[in-house]
Amino acid sequence: MSERPTLIPGERRLLHGGDYNPDQWLRYPEVIDEDFRLFPEAGCNAFSVAIFAWSTLEPLEGEYRFGELRSLLDRFAEAGHKAILATPSAARPAWLIRKDPTVARVTREGLREPMTGRHNHCWSSPTYREAVIRMNTRLAEEFAGHPAVGMWHISNELAGECFCPLCIAAYQDWLKAKYGTLEALNDAWWSGFWSRGIGDWSEIEPREGAMDGNRLDWSRFTTWQLCEWIKLEAGPLRAANPDIPITVNLMGVFGPVDYAEVCRHVDLVADDQYPRYSPEDDDLPAKGAELAFKDDLHRCFKPDRPWMLMESCPDSPNWRHPIRLKRPGMHRLEMMQALAHGAEGTLYFQWRKGRGGCEKLHGAVIDHSATENTRVFRDVAAWGRTLAGLGDLVGQPTEPAECAVIFDWESRWAFNGSSGLPNGDDPCLSQAVRWHRALRSLGLTVDVHHGDRDWSGLKLVVAPLLWMLRPGMAERMIRFVEEGGVLAMTPWSAQADEFNRIHFGGLPGGGLRSLFGIWNEETDSFPLRPGRFAEAVEGNPLGLSGRLESTGSVSILHLEGAEAAAVHRGDFFEGTPAVTVRGGAVWVGIEPDSAGIASLADALTRKAGIATQALPGGVSADRRGDFLFLLNFNGEPVEFTRDGQAFRLEPHASEVWRGEPGACRRLDL
Ligand code: GLA
Ligand code: ZN
Repeated sequence: MSERPTLIPGERRLLHGGDYNPDQWLRYPEVIDEDFRLFPEAGCNAFSVAIFAWSTLEPLEGEYRFGELRSLLDRFAEAGHKAILATPSAARPAWLIRKDPTVARVTREGLREPMTGRHNHCWSSPTYREAVIRMNTRLAEEFAGHPAVGMWHISNELAGECFCPLCIAAYQDWLKAKYGTLEALNDAWWSGFWSRGIGDWSEIEPREGAMDGNRLDWSRFTTWQLCEWIKLEAGPLRAANPDIPITVNLMGVFGPVDYAEVCRHVDLVADDQYPRYSPEDDDLPAKGAELAFKDDLHRCFKPDRPWMLMESCPDSPNWRHPIRLKRPGMHRLEMMQALAHGAEGTLYFQWRKGRGGCEKLHGAVIDHSATENTRVFRDVAAWGRTLAGLGDLVGQPTEPAECAVIFDWESRWAFNGSSGLPNGDDPCLSQAVRWHRALRSLGLTVDVHHGDRDWSGLKLVVAPLLWMLRPGMAERMIRFVEEGGVLAMTPWSAQADEFNRIHFGGLPGGGLRSLFGIWNEETDSFPLRPGRFAEAVEGNPLGLSGRLESTGSVSILHLEGAEAAAVHRGDFFEGTPAVTVRGGAVWVGIEPDSAGIASLADALTRKAGIATQALPGGVSADRRGDFLFLLNFNGEPVEFTRDGQAFRLEPHASEVWRGEPGACRRLDL
């Protein structure tokens, strides 16, 4: 049996369940009884509880009321279910803000928020911090030894910034610790610009917009603040029982928080996902590829463990307009995709629709009609049976990857935060998704790593639009190529340092100019220029042929030891190098269309010595142990051969096969 950890220690089932809020139903005990009747009918076994239960658990300051939660957990234990017990800090009780209005966040405009919404407490407020520590200590004392408690869920979708005087002072202190001297800070922030020189730490204002370095550091600081918050909340939980894993629910590729950093402070990765999957959309394969990227990103945050969907929707979220019911087949396709990428739990927001409140129309396992005789319930129950039939999947890792795409939050912040760049639609993300998709179409497992990751075991790394090179990154790249790896970079890569200042010494910077053997004199971002393309050079070392259409930016390059594999056509830099090769270092000086990326992905994998098995577009094939997951995001059937075995998938099929490569049989799930 595999030594790989499970999501919940000792729990060798795939988890299935969801956010469960009996605290909204305390006046209707018969409904809670009905939930317990229906849990096994739906094949559910794990529930996130108490996420928004603070005012139930502590209706008045210091008056704890844990009786209902205890009976709930006792009932879970009796029924063999697991609880993912949340700390309720995401939504504060009214008494707390009455006691001290400064527990609320201050907006960018300087306004203290009233009692409103959720996810909006000040990170620094001593009152809030004390109240949360007290609550978590009590919760942990009461329940950390309870047999039903399998995991802690800290707060909810942690994010956000606060501009109160305490948070700004904390930022100033953080900068002092980071830079040591004002001299170093002024140098890093290039503060001679617009008379921004800082003469005293108290002059630092995070909303100051002229210094890119300030904005970048504020983003780093807010991630740091959030991580400190996780540590603060986790302290009492770990102290009471260090064996219960701790997680937070992430939001996919959410821009403002560096999730790679956040995941260093939790035991396992959990995500909330709400893709717009619909069989009527021609771009379902593209949406599938976006989610596949996110799944691999999350998988790679903690590659030695499974991850899970903490929230997903068995129907439609209320916030999507217009609400479109989840079409038949889409639920299974979405859930199966998570398993294919290493998940071992698929949970929902939410178990039961509330009668009131602003999410009363959000999709749920149990509808307002409160019966199991609904389409959505049947879909969920069918998925529950499928999971029960896949029990042996627990502990099976995905196939090890030989190639990776780099996706780096800090670099993305710096690129998106620099005026003059083509950064309107988060291109660091979309470019990474496109490369990831092209490599996966070759039938490969593809890792997604941030820039500081160790690359051992990899043969090919594509770093599309990696604007920032922090200290150590270039050295790692140079070593990787020296040791036989293939590294590809694209326009705008390796231009800025860790402070978002442009590298000295010509681009690409940080030592990569000599690695790639090129000088990137200029970059043109004029998009979709008709008639501008790259043309493969006869007999080039990458084996490229014909044209590569360019859809966005192009690097204007000079060879300094590299060889041109393709040259630009159709603009004033006609005939200059467009794709260059020096040993394993490949500069792709255009942003090609999908066909171009596909032929480059093919060329790069060949160069790296990675065996590929191309798949039809919109099809994915992923192995975990002897399980093979085959998904078809197309509206048409597809046929293909893999490992010598012929497969045919119906439109939107999500199938699991089992057996050695080339000799698998389809599981009837
Ligand atoms: C988020 C939250 C949930 C709920 C859902 C609705 O994921 O964490 O509490 O509001 O959105 O889609
Ligand atoms: Zn604050």
